[in-house]
Amino acid sequence: MLKAVILIGGPQKGTRFRPLSLDTPKPLFPIAGLPLIQHHIHACAKLKECKEILIIGAYTTNLMAQFISDMQKEYHVIIRYLQEFAPLGTGGGLYHFRDQIRAGNPMAFFLLNGDVCADFPLRELLTFHEERPTALVTIMGTEATRQQSVHYGCMVREPSTKAVNHYVEKPNSYVSTLINCGVYVCSLQVFHTMAESFQKKQDVYYSGNGQNGHPGYMSWEQDVLAPLAGTNKLYAMQVTNWWSQVKTAGSAIYANRHYLELHKEREKSAKPPSCNILPDVFLHPTASVDSTAVIGPNVSIGAGVSIKAGVRIKESIVLNNATINDHALVMYSVVGQDASVGEWARVEGTPSDPDPNKPFAKMDNTPLFNTDGRLNPSITILGSGVVVPAETILLNSIVLPHKHLTRSFKHEIIL
Ligand code: GDD
Ligand code: GTP
Repeated sequence: MLKAVILIGGPQKGTRFRPLSLDTPKPLFPIAGLPLIQHHIHACAKLKECKEILIIGAYTTNLMAQFISDMQKEYHVIIRYLQEFAPLGTGGGLYHFRDQIRAGNPMAFFLLNGDVCADFPLRELLTFHEERPTALVTIMGTEATRQQSVHYGCMVREPSTKAVNHYVEKPNSYVSTLINCGVYVCSLQVFHTMAESFQKKQDVYYSGNGQNGHPGYMSWEQDVLAPLAGTNKLYAMQVTNWWSQVKTAGSAIYANRHYLELHKEREKSAKPPSCNILPDVFLHPTASVDSTAVIGPNVSIGAGVSIKAGVRIKESIVLNNATINDHALVMYSVVGQDASVGEWARVEGTPSDPDPNKPFAKMDNTPLFNTDGRLNPSITILGSGVVVPAETILLNSIVLPHKHLTRSFKHEIIL
């Protein structure tokens, strides 16, 4: 029997994902028609030995209840949400809920960061782990550029055994281009190592040398992975599958494109759409689309959306119950719930994809503003309930919820 744990953080995290996370917690933001972490659940549920998925976070149970109940209906796996009483870090929550994870004595458990998207090769990762009897943790690793690698956990492996000799979380200077993807298989004995780290942290905390923060706080990367390096208990499997973090709003469009491609086969079998579709497109069955609209590539359209005559949408996500009026254009944008785009309006953003000319480049998680205080070009985002009037242009802008615009905007945040 196997289990899986998904770490989703809490309302304090995911700030770079604003304003998309204002209405919906980031882990539930729909990508390719499914909440972000449903893609994780889907990947875990595919392994029939996986009997339970525990989602650990600091969001209130209220916010997660509907999602958990939907997931329970859709997948034949036990799915539970465990709320941390305070953000305990990537290791603290895991350690706090260790008895829940150990219950039933699973052979191993997957640990997944909720803020990554990938073609999760869980079966291969498990096999790799099982082939190494001393392994407590196997990390899924991938190659990054030298320059970008320092923004991730960096690992140096013993070439023949693939044991990790050296692990540094977000190093100050270059260590290795092999980075941690935030996807792991762990043996239950890892909790012994965690107990030792926890004890050490407690000693420091109560001797008065502790920093501010919670005594239960623990970093999985710094307090568990780093000390395991060089002990033949930590291994890394390098993959070339598609993988990316989901940190900024711009990464939603990038993730959308890749998840759509991954689920292509399924879309083919769906009922033929009534308008001109350029694949890949996810169209919710309750969306109404005029036959003269042209949609795609890489578009997801949510429930109850209404798309009128002559509309053109590409590389975008349109959330539930939005309306795109006649002949409007939407490109590299996210249109929020209940928002409305007027006739002949143009809503356009700039893609923030990884540099295609650099092998192994990842997405740059560019901050909202550059050093001289100007908005960095990125996707355009319309918050929920925003109204864009007819015949206006909105370029590389972010509009906070419920704003009724009266004119065109370029490179602005409209509060
Ligand atoms: N439950 C819970 N509680 N989850 C948390 C907490 C917490 O206090 N803090 C963070 N998380 C979750 C986040 O929601 C995210 O899914 C995951 O843990 C990682 O959190 P970050 O702290 O944002 O780390 P990171 O994404 O910058 O770096 C991690 O992931 C990279 C790959 O994406 C590290 O593991 C890196 O080594 C790795 O390269
Ligand atoms: P594959 O053989 O890899 O396709 O997996 P599968 O046959 O086990 O499942 P499939 O991909 O056909 O999809 C079934 C489940 O995937 C349903 O629960 C869908 O809701 C969900 N799903 C996952 N990703 C997507 C997506 O991008 N779009 C849509 N519409 N559904 C998705």
